[in-house]
Amino acid sequence: MTKPNLQVALDNNTLESALADVKAVGDIVDIVEAGTILILQEGTKAVSSLRALYPEKTIIADTKCADAGGTVAKNMADAGADWMTCICAATIPTMKAANEKIDEIQVELYGNWTKEDAQGWLDAGITQAIYHQSRDALLSGVSWGEKDLNKVKMLVDMGFRVSVTGGLSVDKLALFEGVNVYTFIAGRAITQADDPAKAAQAFQDELHRLWGE
Ligand code: 5RP
Repeated sequence: MTKPNLQVALDNNTLESALADVKAVGDIVDIVEAGTILILQEGTKAVSSLRALYPEKTIIADTKCADAGGTVAKNMADAGADWMTCICAATIPTMKAANEKIDEIQVELYGNWTKEDAQGWLDAGITQAIYHQSRDALLSGVSWGEKDLNKVKMLVDMGFRVSVTGGLSVDKLALFEGVNVYTFIAGRAITQADDPAKAAQAFQDELHRLWGE
């Protein structure tokens, strides 16, 4: 089984603080994400600045796009993003339009969606999904558990490359041992740690321990 990627999510309010955070961990993580909060605050400048810093890394624009997929995707691709996210409530035409203008889109899963919806995304040529526990759900007391594991397994079995995110910490990774997760996305557990580089390395060490090289 391949070791999952580690993605850092930069959900900063300013580009200045996002760049300070990413410089501490960019060489440790596999993928860099311009988070939704950062993009809402700073726009495509956030993506182009990350691309300038890391010409070789996969850069994701977490737009959670709901409409005007082609326009948003073109803007993100022009700024240097490899991939961007569309919210699962977006229509298939929105997702397809986005997919034509950027290397890949990822369907970001929140709330209610069905296996039939997921098959529709696959049929539309979309092969990445992000299984997400929203930070607001986590704040209201929801936590990671068997129900999440089962949904992630279902998506993997259907043929998706699945990213997992939402309030993750190193100790939560073991829940997914033996599952072919593509990427784990961590934000605050890395960027708000006392030593972000040490925190990012701890995620990588645990991924190696659980999934091998
Ligand atoms: C919020 C997001 C976050 O980027 C993602 O959940 C990672 O952040 P954290 O680890 O801090 O929860 O997509 O909408």
